[in-house]
Amino acid sequence: MKIRVTPTIPEGVKVSLVLDYEQKELPAYLTAEQKTELTEAEFSFKKGQSYSFIQKDENGRVDIIFAGLGEEEKFEPENLRKAVAKSIRSAAGFKPITAVALTRFPLFEARQLFGRIVAEAVILATYKYEKFLTKKKESNLTDVYIISEKNAELEKGIEEGIALGDATNFARELVNDPANVVTPTELAKRSVDAGKKYGFEVEVKDKDHIIENKMDAFWSVAKGATEEPKLIIMRYKGDPSSDKIFGLIGKGLTYDSGGYCIKTAGGMFTMKADMGGSAAVIGAMCAISQLKPKINITTIVAACENMISGDAYRTGDIIGSMAGKSIEVVNTDAEGRLTLVDAVHYAIEKEKVYGLLDIATLTGAQVVALGTVASGVVTNDELLLEALESASEISGEKIWPLPNFEEYKELLKSDFADLKNVGGREAGTITAGMFIEEFVQGLPWIHIDMAGLALSPKVKDYTPSGATGWGVRIITALVENLAL
Ligand code: BES
Ligand code: MG
Ligand code: ZN
Repeated sequence: MKIRVTPTIPEGVKVSLVLDYEQKELPAYLTAEQKTELTEAEFSFKKGQSYSFIQKDENGRVDIIFAGLGEEEKFEPENLRKAVAKSIRSAAGFKPITAVALTRFPLFEARQLFGRIVAEAVILATYKYEKFLTKKKESNLTDVYIISEKNAELEKGIEEGIALGDATNFARELVNDPANVVTPTELAKRSVDAGKKYGFEVEVKDKDHIIENKMDAFWSVAKGATEEPKLIIMRYKGDPSSDKIFGLIGKGLTYDSGGYCIKTAGGMFTMKADMGGSAAVIGAMCAISQLKPKINITTIVAACENMISGDAYRTGDIIGSMAGKSIEVVNTDAEGRLTLVDAVHYAIEKEKVYGLLDIATLTGAQVVALGTVASGVVTNDELLLEALESASEISGEKIWPLPNFEEYKELLKSDFADLKNVGGREAGTITAGMFIEEFVQGLPWIHIDMAGLALSPKVKDYTPSGATGWGVRIITALVENLAL
């Protein structure tokens, strides 16, 4: 897909897209014919509204798509992203078609942001996962033109949007690919390839390194599987003058059967997506390496499967952790936090991060509390939360903070070990987050539980059905904020 800025509509482009804010009267730039058609359709550029029709002009036929951005005073970047995505998706269904021109739109003063959102929306909305289909669905859309005078900020924004869109689609591919394809070894290989492509450093450590470093919590989860675990370490050095490094940790369960606390068939079916957190941070590394914020980032993924075998861990097992804390395994399906705490400790001790974010498809309780709309957040640092909230406003990926009151800590106490891996049915997302907090040594930390966000059952705005790529853009925007 090519996205370009040109002052006039290139010859042969037969689909034009008109975006505007909601207005009492239809804008004056429309022709009488267009006004009649739109009035009949009760179209007034309301948020989420779109309408298209074929118009005959002196050059033949032109398809025109109109999309509404809603009231100008209530405008959010997400409205523009959705409007562009919706129109581009409907245009991609037109035949024959090769190009769409954005002919009318309110180009806001923040041109860079405008370009970023439009490009992001185009790339995100046209993603398809069809590598396993023998017969691919056809799409002839190859070019999108933004009709405007050349403008450096706009062009820069488009570049950013393409980077973010591509990185998100890369994460979607990782999540969509089933567990027999994306094993821990394959996840590591894709990270290495991405590092080569975008210029970040990747180191992959295997089983021996995990055992040598006493990552017993991670190893306990991993050891039941035939597929070997991998510890993936990625480094982006955007500020060589500083020795401060911020850490990103992503849950990388390439499959979660639940282990001996086995899931139901329905619950297990989607568990190829249990590496959605790692896809988010690996994708973010791809975007960050292109956007080049002035900051150092180290990303860690403890990748493994949670399986059943004679070697698998059991309930009641008391296991260790790299930090030296003992953990009583109450439920083998609460495996994510076990892999995460060793990754967190590794990031602090070996990679010397001063603060960190972790992101994980961690609890069914998050889905119960917030559904598929917003991720749950637990943090010990107000400033990180503010930075993440402002990142969320840019990216449109919603988050909601949950409290980490001391009283919840009681729930993680064990009679026989320093901690137990499950705090009971109550406040499941909070106790899972606070379990990880026990390992952050008081450093600034923020935790994102995206259990309900990794997959979408149906097409929605700029998200196809299947993997959403949730997290890539908000994490990248957070890192950009931290670099300021
Ligand atoms: N991977 C799951 C969480 C999950 C559930 C992700 C639904 C996406 C959709 C996690 O490993 C898990 O199984 N969590 C358990 C924890 C419980 C045993 C304390 C859960 O939430 O049921
Ligand atoms: Mg589980
Ligand atoms: Zn899991």
